[in-house]
Amino acid sequence: MKRALTLGWAVAAVTIAVAALHAAVPDGAKYSGTRMCVACHRAKHKDIVNSYIKSPMANALIEVNDDNEEKVTQYLKGDFKTAPFKQDDVAFILASGVHQQAYLDKDMKVLPAKWLVADKKWVETPAVDATKECLYCHSTGFVAADKKYKTAGVGCEMCHGPGSAHISAPADKKLDTVARPGEMDPKASAAICGQCHSRGRSVDGATAFPQGFLPGGDFNKFFKHDEVKGPGLNQQFTDLVKTKHYEKGVVCATCHDPHGETGNIAQLRKPITETCLDCHKAKIVDIPTHAKSKNVTPPADATCATCHMPEGRHLFDKTVADKK
Ligand code: HEC
Ligand code: HEC
Ligand code: HEC
Ligand code: HEC
Ligand code: HEC
Ligand code: HEC
Ligand code: HEC
Repeated sequence: MKRALTLGWAVAAVTIAVAALHAAVPDGAKYSGTRMCVACHRAKHKDIVNSYIKSPMANALIEVNDDNEEKVTQYLKGDFKTAPFKQDDVAFILASGVHQQAYLDKDMKVLPAKWLVADKKWVETPAVDATKECLYCHSTGFVAADKKYKTAGVGCEMCHGPGSAHISAPADKKLDTVARPGEMDPKASAAICGQCHSRGRSVDGATAFPQGFLPGGDFNKFFKHDEVKGPGLNQQFTDLVKTKHYEKGVVCATCHDPHGETGNIAQLRKPITETCLDCHKAKIVDIPTHAKSKNVTPPADATCATCHMPEGRHLFDKTVADKK
């Protein structure tokens, strides 16, 4: 399903004024599990459901057990003949393996090497406690104090909120039984993704994630960003909050399809350059003309990201391009 970019500049500017600082789901709502959501929504939202359950996010954590053999065979990437630990030690697979994959033992401790998919090799990784350092972002409804989650992988409820109240009254169209990111202020929508696409610590310092945050809530009450200097994994929101894009309401779901219904890389709604020109075409005709006007020479296969998102950074700034 193709959808238009949802945020016009004018719309964004108006909605930003209405800061949604309360959670968008009722107090006390509980996580019900992705299966429940899928059971009802498969009928009316077949494309969303079918594409989402195959996306990397939905498979960001896979339990290794007999009930799950098919999934394990499909997603397990490491070559355990050369691994510094035994395959039998692997109780959880962390990430679907787009670029890398890590592994946890039965006590939820990170095993000491991760697999680089393209390079086909193991690199050392710190053997930290995943209940404090990893699992909230790779599962649904994780509570660090209990060391438990509701569903493995990023389920519907991490973005739409815990669903028990919605499930008991699904036809209630009030905004507050389920979080509707498409109707939220863009900064609140970005914070939903920011729960996991950020670098830093919880405000009490105990975890690497914003334990307690719910969609629509006040992100800064739960999390403090690190001062990141270089490129790295899961720091897109930490980068984005510093940009003019964020200020103007150009956020994650403007460019990315959260449910992965497209064939483009990184779940983009449109190919990279088309994504950018949708908004920038008033001043920029194409890459060769633009580059010439800035006295830079683009590589033959350049996209807008080549200069404005080096190494995948989400800073979209002019200084980065300057250094090219
Ligand atoms: C018992 C069936 C049922 C279950 C279970 C259910 N939903 Fe719904 N959901 C509905 C109905 C009915 C609507 C209203 C449909 C509409 O407004 O078009 C709805 C609406 C929604 C909407 C808003 C759609 C929009 O157009 O804005 C979202 C998001 C949503 N559900 C997510 C979920 C999630 C997440 C779960 C799992 C926790 C879930 N639903 C479980 C029936 C269900
Ligand atoms: C704050 C949330 C968060 C925490 C904490 C977190 N991750 Fe992730 N992880 C993500 C996100 C988001 C991505 C995908 C983002 C990206 O590609 O930049 C990801 C991707 C990955 C990948 C796959 C990378 C790839 O590109 O294929 C691995 C492996 C991984 N994480 C392991 C871990 C391990 C091990 C820990 C704990 C030491 C951990 N993560 C902690 C959010 C988190
Ligand atoms: C990574 C975050 C994320 C996850 C996970 C997610 N959604 Fe969404 N969902 C969104 C966002 C953001 C929107 C707003 C519309 C958009 O940007 O496409 C949305 C919109 C919707 C809508 C509104 C109707 C529509 O046509 O767009 C429904 C229904 C929905 N989601 C259901 C689900 C179900 C069911 C699941 C699990 C199978 C799910 N979502 C998982 C982020 C998410
Ligand atoms: C609960 C944590 C969580 C939330 C919330 C979340 N993500 Fe992610 N996201 C992840 C993890 C973990 C991965 C890595 C999955 C993997 O590689 O297995 C990921 C991967 C991705 C990817 C890369 C997919 C690919 O094909 O390489 C995109 C794009 C993405 N997320 C966008 C979003 C957007 C947009 C939102 C908000 C609407 C969002 N995410 C919300 C945890 C999360
Ligand atoms: C203005 C458009 C735009 C916005 C806003 C945006 N992204 Fe991206 N994102 C991109 C493009 C383009 C790429 C591909 C970059 C490349 O391949 O060089 C990308 C790549 C990614 C990836 C893949 C990284 C990888 O190594 O595979 C993730 C994850 C991601 N974005 C998450 C997010 C999240 C989360 C947000 C909000 C905090 C966000 N993006 C906001 C355009 C955007
Ligand atoms: C939804 C509309 C929208 C999309 C899509 C979009 N932009 Fe922007 N962009 C803006 C707005 C609005 C500004 C701020 C303009 C201003 O304040 O002068 C901006 C500013 C910029 C700037 C200047 C930043 C600065 O600090 O001066 C760069 C560079 C940029 N965008 C690159 C990109 C790239 C690359 C993409 C695609 C990955 C993209 N944009 C996609 C709307 C968009
Ligand atoms: C070969 C590198 C390169 C490519 C590719 C590139 N740009 Fe730029 N861009 C630049 C440079 C250099 C500047 C000027 C930086 C400065 O003023 O310090 C710039 C400036 C900008 C600005 C700020 C406004 C302005 O005109 O100064 C925007 C917006 C922008 N680019 C968008 C885009 C979009 C959209 C694309 C894809 C169609 C793109 N750029 C592709 C190098 C590039």
